[in-house]
Amino acid sequence: MASNQGVPLFIDDKRFGAYLSPVKSQRIFLTGASSGIGAATARLLAQKGHRLILISRDLSAMKTWAESFENNQVLVHEGDTTDAESMRLAAQEMMDRWGGIDVCIPNAGVGVFSPLSEAKLSDWHRMVDVNIKGVLNSIHACLDALLENKGQVIQIGSVAARSVFPNSGVYCATKHAVLALSESLRIEFRDRLAVTTINPGAVNTAFIDQTTNTELRESYRPTFDQGMAPDFIADAILLAIESKGRGIFSEMTVRPDLR
Ligand SMILES: NC(=O)c1ccc[n+]([C@@H]2O[C@H](COP(=O)([O-])OP(=O)(O)OC[C@H]3O[C@@H](n4cnc5c(N)ncnc54)[C@H](OP(=O)(O)O)[C@@H]3O)[C@@H](O)[C@H]2O)c1
Repeated sequence: MASNQGVPLFIDDKRFGAYLSPVKSQRIFLTGASSGIGAATARLLAQKGHRLILISRDLSAMKTWAESFENNQVLVHEGDTTDAESMRLAAQEMMDRWGGIDVCIPNAGVGVFSPLSEAKLSDWHRMVDVNIKGVLNSIHACLDALLENKGQVIQIGSVAARSVFPNSGVYCATKHAVLALSESLRIEFRDRLAVTTINPGAVNTAFIDQTTNTELRESYRPTFDQGMAPDFIADAILLAIESKGRGIFSEMTVRPDLR
């Protein structure tokens, strides 16, 4: 098959042993891969034999790990998702190396909590730029190749995509936009694209550190500290990928188990 030139349909490498994924090695575009949910997802998907391009502004912590994989299984692309040209180049690198793209996971996102009355326009713009424009740039860069391969978009929404919480009005607005975009893709391309939105509650990552209002940040911190491990969101992403051909998880809400 032209789109898999030189690459076996199933990675038959003893290193992966019993962990081998039941679906063929997917070619995955993943943003926000330097930390939290993205980093956990990169590790799990690579362990399962998938091919990945990892995208973030600073991938120094992931480079040595990525290079430990043979046959360029894990590529790194340092870039800002708000730069459409950079996302196009990352997608082009996948086309050049692997001949196609199967899955796009535009995970990079920021949340800066503050009441709207604080009116920090630069924070509002950053959330819109990364959470909406960055997602659009990523999907736009991959879309033709995804449609060609009957591929998949896995979006990281939030419980804030379905509900509105105090002190996070603009973040909630951006995540509502993410969900609306997912639904649009699903409706328009239902015979050529699988679309999944994963809506996590609190996850224990560096996410809360973006909030500059010290009082708010420290009042929220225990909620995030008790949140899900990012590995759990990676598990949900893997489930969405491995359901290929059997059904589509179009929306998954995952919350901390507080029992
Ligand atoms: N943590 C939670 O409780 C939670 C809950 C629901 C949804 N989410 C969503 O989950 C996603 C991942 O968040 P996380 O919790 O894993 O947070 P995180 O640990 O802060 O990771 C955020 C990632 O996004 C990347 N990033 C930020 N701005 C970027 C840009 N302009 N260009 C490229 N990469 C950029 C960061 O990398 P660089 O700084 O190296 O660029 C980092 O890898 C986000 O969409 C977030 O909204 C998180």
